[in-house]
Amino acid sequence: MSTAVERFDERARARFGAHARTVVHDDELLRHPVYTRVLHWSVAAFFVLALLSGFAIYTPWLYRWFAPLFGGGPMTRLLHPWFGLGFAACFVFQVLNWLRPMSWTPDDSRWIRRLRDYVSNADEREPDYVDFFNAGQKAYFWAIVASAIVFLISGIPMWFPRTFGRQTAAAGYVLHDVAALVMLVGFIIHVYEGTTAIPGTFQSMTRGVVEKRWAWTHHPAWYRRETAGADKDTPRS
Ligand code: HEM
Repeated sequence: MSTAVERFDERARARFGAHARTVVHDDELLRHPVYTRVLHWSVAAFFVLALLSGFAIYTPWLYRWFAPLFGGGPMTRLLHPWFGLGFAACFVFQVLNWLRPMSWTPDDSRWIRRLRDYVSNADEREPDYVDFFNAGQKAYFWAIVASAIVFLISGIPMWFPRTFGRQTAAAGYVLHDVAALVMLVGFIIHVYEGTTAIPGTFQSMTRGVVEKRWAWTHHPAWYRRETAGADKDTPRS
């Protein structure tokens, strides 16, 4: 039986899919439908705007570089919380969209124990049990969930210091900076992994598709499920 969230997601996917097409060639698999891609790039756009405007507010050194992009200091200060809210709002829909593939399983704990092999590229292919997302991707996703909550809890007293009091706002600054640091490190690793580290990944968020051999190499369990009954063996290279 499908849940309310799944039914909502199905309707959203169908609605977005009606406005744009994803072309899947013979040797490819659909990875991210239009709805997911629109959400991902909306989250990314708000995140980058919040990051750059946040940099401008953070130190006078960065202020010189980034405040002019947003029309000066006061405008940057005014816009930053709204970029943050835009990021959080879009990410809520992404959380609903990805709740199921992002749920943690015992296989993910196994994957984390062999993180060193992953980082050092010891294996040519991911272990057989790696499904739609690997545990590193899931860890990044849940780190964003946690950081977004911290951003909101700390950012609101910083936005309205008179209502919440100076001490709460001051504690907010510390928490906000810690969350920003976690997000910044995660973002740098994420962009590297999604572009140059693993060729063929970036197009999953642009065209929405990946080559079958990419899926077979990086997400074998997902590959097997998607091609069950068709090409069960190694895809043609
Ligand atoms: C701006 C540069 C960015 C690029 C080039 C990029 C690229 C990608 C790609 C290619 C994927 C699909 C990976 C796959 O299917 O296996 C992906 C997934 C994802 N993206 Fe991004 N992304 C960017 C920004 C962001 C931002 C700003 C966030 C949130 C703060 C974000 C959050 C995610 C999450 C949670 C996933 C799913 C898990 C994962 O693959 O790590 N992305 N991204």
